Amino acid sequence: MRRLFPVPPAPPATDPAVGSGGAETDREWSLAELAAAYAYPEPDGPRGTWLRANMVSTLDGAAQHDGRSQPISSAADMRVFGTLRALADVVIAGAGTVRQEGYRPARARAELAEARRSAGQGPVPAIAVVSASLELDFSLPLFTSPLVPTLVLTGAAAAPDRIAAAERAGARVVIAGDGVGVDPARALGALAELGHTRLLTEGGPRLLGQFVTAGVLDELCLTVSPMLTAGDAQRIAGGPAVEVPRRFVLASLLEEEGFLFSRYRRD
Ligand SMILES: NC(=O)c1ccc[n+]([C@@H]2O[C@H](COP(=O)([O-])OP(=O)(O)OC[C@H]3O[C@@H](n4cnc5c(N)ncnc54)[C@H](OP(=O)(O)O)[C@@H]3O)[C@@H](O)[C@H]2O)c1
Repeated sequence: MRRLFPVPPAPPATDPAVGSGGAETDREWSLAELAAAYAYPEPDGPRGTWLRANMVSTLDGAAQHDGRSQPISSAADMRVFGTLRALADVVIAGAGTVRQEGYRPARARAELAEARRSAGQGPVPAIAVVSASLELDFSLPLFTSPLVPTLVLTGAAAAPDRIAAAERAGARVVIAGDGVGVDPARALGALAELGHTRLLTEGGPRLLGQFVTAGVLDELCLTVSPMLTAGDAQRIAGGPAVEVPRRFVLASLLEEEGFLFSRYRRD
């Protein structure tokens, strides 16, 4: 992986082993190095949280192929994906993505276990599933056997029998909306009350669009996949458009095998 931005320090011109263009970084980074590159900033703002999204998109803007993100991803993308999970207190995912991608509980990573302990975090981030219908298979390991209980974020009008089914499976149900659905800003407040301030969302596009329009997204880690798919796949954020495009600034840019790993923060 190579760092393109901020630009790496120029190698000494007299050292023939190093070459030019920051070649000393052109190797597989360890998880610890990636974790340092993606460290969460101090949360600011009204809730004391930092909401980061991690998404992958093709060159022509597709956020999935054949209904999944795997065909447009890469090994390096999965390393970044794993690193971002390892840094987060909680991973927020829409029920559509959880169903479509067959979400499983987060895996503990030995290399980053000590870093999590010293940051006051549990062994893995909790997965928080956002759902109005609660039409989720609560017999899956995501609900029955995670290392830390899975959260289910829903609205106050959610079906009581589905709430009971979630709780019987071992999930913790968090009400974060007055109707059937979840209010994005309220969801972040509810997670902060549970002590989760380093937040990561993995989409999908319908959920991410709501975080964007609610103005609560702090950072986007976007992998640009060097592929073209055409077709009518979703983009990384959907739903109603914002009135005025929201401006983000580039914080860092890494590259491996033509995949760009960008990190943008709100302006
Ligand atoms: N490229 C990427 O990085 C990436 C990332 C993630 C996913 N994906 C792809 O995106 C697709 C799935 O994404 P999607 O946009 O269709 O679905 P999604 O955003 O993952 O999930 C939509 C579902 O989440 C629940 N939901 C969303 N907003 C809610 C709210 N405010 N209150 C309560 N529930 C809410 C609803 O669940 P209920 O129906 O249960 O009520 C809704 O049907 C898949 O093809 C996946 O592969 C791509």
